[in-house]
Amino acid sequence: MAFPENFLWGAATSAYQVEGAWDEDGKGRSIWDNFVRIPGNTFEGTNGNVAADHYHRYKEDVALMAEMGLKSYRFSISWSRLLPNGRGEVNEKGVEFYSDLIDELLKHNIVPFVTLYHWDLPQALQDDVAGWESRVCVDAFAEYARLCFERFGTRVNHWITFNEPVIFEMFGYVTEAHPPAKNDPHLMYQVSHHVNLAHAKAVLEYRELGFQGEIGLTNVISPAYPYTDSAADREAAWWAESFTFHWFYDPILKGEYPAEYLAAIEEQFGKLDITANDLALLKQAKSDFIGINYYQPARIAAPEAESLCAVGRESNTGAAGNASFCGRYRTVLDTAQFEYTKWRWEICPDALRDCMHRIKDRYGEIPIYITENGLGDEDTVVDGVIFDETRINYISRHLSACKQAISEGIPLKGYYAWSWIDLLSWLNGYKKRYGFVYVVGSTLERKKKQSYFWYEQVIASNGESL
Ligand code: BG6
Repeated sequence: MAFPENFLWGAATSAYQVEGAWDEDGKGRSIWDNFVRIPGNTFEGTNGNVAADHYHRYKEDVALMAEMGLKSYRFSISWSRLLPNGRGEVNEKGVEFYSDLIDELLKHNIVPFVTLYHWDLPQALQDDVAGWESRVCVDAFAEYARLCFERFGTRVNHWITFNEPVIFEMFGYVTEAHPPAKNDPHLMYQVSHHVNLAHAKAVLEYRELGFQGEIGLTNVISPAYPYTDSAADREAAWWAESFTFHWFYDPILKGEYPAEYLAAIEEQFGKLDITANDLALLKQAKSDFIGINYYQPARIAAPEAESLCAVGRESNTGAAGNASFCGRYRTVLDTAQFEYTKWRWEICPDALRDCMHRIKDRYGEIPIYITENGLGDEDTVVDGVIFDETRINYISRHLSACKQAISEGIPLKGYYAWSWIDLLSWLNGYKKRYGFVYVVGSTLERKKKQSYFWYEQVIASNGESL
């Protein structure tokens, strides 16, 4: 039982959560720049204006990665830094930032793994065409993707089109917790289709340009388990699995929608605009890999009311929340039976192994990257030492699950801890920390946590020292 020699030991961030410099050097506004300014939307009104100031300190950050021995860094590009209006005029200063970051990584033999869309849509596209509600946005994304491939494609060989469509679509169009904060399930499913088309177009752009690297998409999986063995809970779990898993992965990995689920939502919410040409496009755009973000499983019970969209929200209070999501089901929290983080996210490493098997069973031998996995916590600082054993424990157990999955034949090629450095947790600001590197709030000084040293050993031993 061992990790392969060329396993990518990584860590991840995203542009809005880490960069800061929200209006510098010609960057346009994103929907998050505006959303955080509306009182009540985020914990104590926290925003990404400065974040971890990675925009100005990226050299120091990359030096810390190199010192640790990190093999790969997953980061996202801010669309509105490159194209302030979402399309058209290119902001060369924005291109320069990412170009320099990529060069710095390569100088230290760190593989850049780039996400094109980690939720920060240019506000101009939201204002001009209603964002993902419109097919114009699909073409705008293809234009943006092409620009990224043209400018960085000779140096970047790993591309993720979208991060977690399930979250930005569900939170943006049902629970109202993310921009554009609407509650319209029909629209959510239509948006979902547009995002799939945008992914497909970007994949085809990449191929057309003749690059030999790999391109795929990342989603989060919370594998569904019936809370009890009752028929009602088992059926509810089927609905949860159909929505959070099959609805999002089938179009990417099979080029089609799960027929039974599609029929059910069209019956309840009305027809979706999905044409034969659209379906042909989805079929054509084969992904080279699938990225999995995994944090927790979902314990599923039958709903209290029969509805396809039970509304719940992720907390933005700086404390644990109790979210329940779309579908003919509800999620159950059972602290007596299961283990949870401080934010009440269930800790269950075996479900990570299980979800890789679910992918393999349904889609075959598609290469997998774990593109996010980690623990949000308030770290303890004693005499300047940052103790985060809970994080070490969490990541270690999940890596053991990965190791086991590899031994069972799962084609897992890399693991990216979330996150490289403390950054903005979307709704819980800087209170919920994830990084190997601690950021001092007042000075933005970087400090290595205990987990930094631990992961350094894990990488050096290629996972033997877990
Ligand atoms: C994932 C996102 O859903 O979860 C990350 O891709 C995010 O961007 C992470 O930070 C943890 O969620 P949160 O709400 O604690 O920031």
